Amino acid sequence: MTSHLMNTYGRLPFALSHGRGCRVWDTEGREYLDALSGIAVNTLGHAHPKLVPALQDQVGRLIHCSNYYGAPMQETLAGKLCELSGLDAAFFCNSGLEANEGALKIARKFGHDRGIERPEVIVYERAFHGRSIATLSATGNPKVQKGFEPLVEGFVRVPLNDLSAIESVARDNPNIVAVFLETIQGEGGIHSTRIEILQGLRRICDERNWLLMLDEVQCGIGRTGKWFAHQWAGIRPDVMPLAKGLGSGVPIGAIVAGPRAKDVLGPGNHGTTFGGNPLAMRAGIETLRIMEEDGLLANAAAMGERIRAGLAEALHGVAGVKEMRGQGLMIGIELDRPCGELLLKAAQAGLLISVTADSVLRLLPALILSAAEADEIVARLAPLVRDFLAAAQP
Ligand SMILES: Cc1ncc(COP(=O)(O)O)c(C=O)c1O
Repeated sequence: MTSHLMNTYGRLPFALSHGRGCRVWDTEGREYLDALSGIAVNTLGHAHPKLVPALQDQVGRLIHCSNYYGAPMQETLAGKLCELSGLDAAFFCNSGLEANEGALKIARKFGHDRGIERPEVIVYERAFHGRSIATLSATGNPKVQKGFEPLVEGFVRVPLNDLSAIESVARDNPNIVAVFLETIQGEGGIHSTRIEILQGLRRICDERNWLLMLDEVQCGIGRTGKWFAHQWAGIRPDVMPLAKGLGSGVPIGAIVAGPRAKDVLGPGNHGTTFGGNPLAMRAGIETLRIMEEDGLLANAAAMGERIRAGLAEALHGVAGVKEMRGQGLMIGIELDRPCGELLLKAAQAGLLISVTADSVLRLLPALILSAAEADEIVARLAPLVRDFLAAAQP
């Protein structure tokens, strides 16, 4: 059959039709355990019994109305995000790249407001911030950038977890206005910024009057066991882009800002047609409410620990398993060779996962995962990894 879709994705040879909890079914009726949750999006799994009626109610009231009018639900969700993060104000958009694009605009305007005409932002090797022209320029992956040059200027790239690299950029470059990084790199292969590095970055940004901008699009919203991954370091960013898990499947993005960044954008500086629409706001409000009500942060921490311990035991001594990384329900298992073919093999074994950075198996299950489902992920994945490593040459 001729496809009329642009050829932008390598898709698996089946389509999903419906889901419930952490299970999904394809159009042929085959069942899968979903350990990917739409790439960290379906925080509450599928067809959550508390979320579905709330969204149905909202669809029957008001889906969209534009930002011409007062926005009480935006106020409610912004208030909740500020309460949870300790920050002060939010702007709503529709996706991760949009949240990051807005953060980059804040950084540039912050610089201009201080008389810096060519503001520059420190970004990281292996980073992923999206696929718009500015966010792919901030991304540290040549494959994402290739073919889209000229890239946006104004980025200086450094290795992760290296404060001396930042100090040396600071000495040489008076145009730096912000440091922009994922608290835990997702697409780059599940690499965490160490706690003392986050604390060091906070200190440097305070000393230099730079903005600390933490992209929590993938690692935020409870996935690591705290509302936001940087909270493990006891710090606050100045700007925090969010998206993915915030709407539990309904498209949404947010830029949350602290005192130094919240007033940088003024009337006419930024806007979006769909951003902050009542359906997305209701999804965000209900997602956070249900997460609190059902203790899903603690569950994410405990189930993440359970999967990691289970995999460590099941894969103990298996040659070719290089490292297991991540926190809570954001887990990466690095193998010593490219393992893209495990995507289909896992699906054939009834398990949905992802492979990122060529050789890293990535698990991002819903935060409602049960202990039995956590054990099932281990039981399905471990033999696949063992067989794959036994069969393939590095
Ligand atoms: C850390 C991070 N930032 C930004 C994005 C881009 O988000 P979106 O695909 O919603 O534009 C992603 C997507 O994977 C991400 O993981």
